[in-house]
Parts: sequence; C-alpha cells; structure tokens
Amino acid sequence: MASTLSEAYRDHPQFLHHIKPIDFSSVRSLPDSHAWPQNFVEEANGGGSGSSIPVIDLMDPNAEELIGFACEEWGAFQLKNHGVSLSLFEEVEAEAKRLFALPAKQKLKALRSPNGATGYGRARISPFFPKDMWHEGFTIMGSPFHDAKQIWPHDYAPFCELMENYQKQMKVLAEKLTGIILRILKISEEEAKWVGSSGSTGAVQLNYYPQCPEPNRAMGLAPHTDTSLFTILHQSQTEGLQIFKDQVGWVPVRPHPRALVVNAGDLLHIISNARFPCVLHRVVVNRVQHRYSVAYFYGPPLDYVLSSPLADEQARFRGVTVKEYIGIKAKNLGKAISLISTN
Ligand code: OGA
Ligand code: NI
Repeated sequence: MASTLSEAYRDHPQFLHHIKPIDFSSVRSLPDSHAWPQNFVEEANGGGSGSSIPVIDLMDPNAEELIGFACEEWGAFQLKNHGVSLSLFEEVEAEAKRLFALPAKQKLKALRSPNGATGYGRARISPFFPKDMWHEGFTIMGSPFHDAKQIWPHDYAPFCELMENYQKQMKVLAEKLTGIILRILKISEEEAKWVGSSGSTGAVQLNYYPQCPEPNRAMGLAPHTDTSLFTILHQSQTEGLQIFKDQVGWVPVRPHPRALVVNAGDLLHIISNARFPCVLHRVVVNRVQHRYSVAYFYGPPLDYVLSSPLADEQARFRGVTVKEYIGIKAKNLGKAISLISTN
C-alpha cells in the first residue's frame, strides 16, 4: 500500500515547544515571544495594496486560458462558480469557531504529537522563525477521528463527518483543476495517471488568527510557500492574507464572498519547470476581528517522481519523489527549492 502523508511527516519530528500555542484567550498585551520587528510587519501595508490577483469564473469558456495566465503571472487566483455549495464552507467555519473557542485545556487534549501530523497546534513552519505567530491551527491528514474524540468524547461525529465530506468535495474540485493545469502544461495523460487515483495526497488545515492587541508587531502566519501542488483556501470575510509579487510587494487577497483562493505550491513550481511561481504568502492580523480560514493542500502520490517532463526544455530541478521533497522541505523550509535546482 502506498504510504500516507502522515507517515511522510512522521519521519520529521518536531519539539513540543514548537507545537504548543499560548492561550490567546488569557493574554491582554503582546508577549515578547510574539513581538516581531515592526518594520518587518509594516511593509505589509506598503507597495502592492493597489493590485489584486485575478478572479476567475470556472464556467467561463476561457477559464483554462485565464487560469494559465494567472498561474504564470501570479501563482494564484480567486475562483468563483467552482461548484461547491457555500453552505459547506459556512458549516466548516462554524465547526472551526466551535473548536478554537474551547478552553485551552480542552484543545490541548488533541495537541499534535512530536511525530504526528493530525491534531491541534502551531503552524508546522514555526521552528524556522525567531518569533511566534499569532495563530493556532488544526491539521487533518486522513481521519480526524482520534483527535476529535479527545476533544469531544461524546460529540465527535459531526466534526468528523463534516471534515471527511469536505476532503471529498475538495478532492473533486482539485482533480478538476489539476486536469486543467496539466493541459496547460502539456503534460501527457500517461504522466498524469495518478490524478483521480486513491494515492493522491490531500490535507486540511483549519486556521485561527485571534484578534490581536498590537497587530503592527504581530505576524499571523510568517511568509512561506506551500508544500502542495496547489492549495485551495476558503477565508472568512476578514482581510489578512497577502501574497508577494516581485517588483510589487505584498498584495492583499481581499475576501470575495463566493470565491476560493487557489495558490500554486512548490510541487507545481517543480513540475512546471519553474514556469509557475510557488507563491510566497503570509497572514497579518488585526485588532478587532478574529479571522478563520480553511486550506486544502493537494498533491500527487508520495512515490510520484517530480520531474519537469517537457522534452524540449532543460530540466531546472533534479527528479525527487514527493516524499523526498517533503523531507527536504521539513528540514530546510524556504531553501528547499534551491536545494533541488540543477543550476
Ligand atoms: C496555510 C496558509 C492562509 C490563510 O495554511 O498554509 O497559507 O489565509 N493559510 O490562513
Ligand atoms: Ni500557506
């Protein structure tokens, strides 16, 4: 049997102090542990605030062309008319609110274990940054049953059923988008046999960014790229997500009531032979509103060899499997791409 995403992460344990969040409900001022250099956060509001990523209608007859352009130019776009019912997102957001509103003691019952993947805790990128983030999350790789049962011993079923349904529906949308993207890249059906197979990898991440007493010195989620082919994100109607565009700066991704944010991840950057950027993004926080989001990370099976298969181009990356790449990323974060570059 093909190994699972959680098995891939099991090989890269984390320290407990990098997993356990502070109890945000009990802090009234910004602790030093969470105080980032002000200029680092504030550049946020400069440069790119007049630009925005394209909003694409999946039903548009030109959708394929528009997606190709957006992937090349931005590495991200917002997608409307995606076919997933809005009530599903409302339900997931309601469950996320119910979860993160629990007392810290109860959430900690589902704390990710050092070599675990599913459960409650800080962002996986935390160890790479000198300061802590104004964020807590709940990661689901596979079934959330075990962790949900720790939190709600008698009432875990609604959460589990909803999250399983969410993964199913996101997988269908992700496969549709993958078909489009592989056509744009002219990748053959032979190469793309994994799409729709049971081996493809998907994970859900619920994110919570509490309101913050000093948002100019706090960071919701530090700049990173995703270890996915692409990520489909639903954000609550609260601003905070920004993507970095060369020569422009940090560009806000303003919530659109019916759209999902799609961003290219490292794996798409690799298989597109660097034609599509893996977009650097981050989340800033605010003083008055809690912010919630739910990300779905999609990718090929773990044993799939990421090569840039276009015959007439020089390969920019050496061939590694998805699993090997996850390992390189877990140890090196932002340097992972350059470590597999051929030049
Ligand atoms: C992530 C992420 C963005 C957001 O979970 O990797 O980038 O808006 N989330 O929460
Ligand atoms: Ni991300």
